[in-house]
Amino acid sequence: MATHLPIRATIREDLAAAMERDPAATSRWVVLLTSAGLHAIWLHRIAHRWWVRPGGKWPARLLAYVSRSLTGIEIHPGAHIGRRFFIDHGMGVVIGETAVVGDDVMLFHGVTLGGTSGRRVKRHPTLGDKVMVGAGAKILGDVHVGSNVKVGANSVVVKDVPTGAVATGIPARYRFPALEGTPELSPQELLYADPALFI
Ligand SMILES: CC(C)(COP(=O)(O)OP(=O)(O)OC[C@H]1O[C@@H](n2cnc3c(N)ncnc32)[C@H](O)[C@@H]1OP(=O)(O)O)[C@@H](O)C(=O)NCCC(=O)NCCS
Repeated sequence: MATHLPIRATIREDLAAAMERDPAATSRWVVLLTSAGLHAIWLHRIAHRWWVRPGGKWPARLLAYVSRSLTGIEIHPGAHIGRRFFIDHGMGVVIGETAVVGDDVMLFHGVTLGGTSGRRVKRHPTLGDKVMVGAGAKILGDVHVGSNVKVGANSVVVKDVPTGAVATGIPARYRFPALEGTPELSPQELLYADPALFI
């Protein structure tokens, strides 16, 4: 989950995560200078530090606005984003104020982590670690997406998704590819087959 590493260390590990996950990335310098996803997360990390300080809300909002204008990626400064976060392509990504994103998460362009309530409550999703959200997917409301989940491109997730699942479709339904090929198992049998799926 989100931690306050020194800014240089954060930049280094975000950059390494981008190099690792983007097969088109061949040069660190090119990625450093041209990845809108990285620029957006770095500006967000600064904006979030301001957001949680007394009197910091206005400058945080202003920086988020500048970031959106430059990158096409809108991350509310209140959102909690974990380490080694990467947005590939980026354009059209929206992340709401009360979203919580774990470590090693990757989003593609057009993803929304959005709210479904007009009330000032926790109204955006919580994503575990190592989640991948495909291009154009929407995850809506205060739903929980477990670790190691993959959300298919253009899917709409409106309910919790358990750890290890692949969620696709509108509304998204999930399956456990790690267990495919095994005879149909009850949830209790699944637990014994691979307890990690439920952690
Ligand atoms: C969801 C995803 C992770 C599944 O990958 P996978 O586990 O390798 O699954 P497969 O490709 O073997 O497909 C399994 C089934 O899911 C279906 N499926 C795959 N992606 C889907 C999607 N986005 N929406 C609906 N159904 C989907 C397939 O048609 C297939 O159905 P079938 O079993 O009835 O034939 C992948 O398809 C995906 O959407 N990745 C996002 C990639 C992305 O956004 N790239 C953008 C690059 S710019």
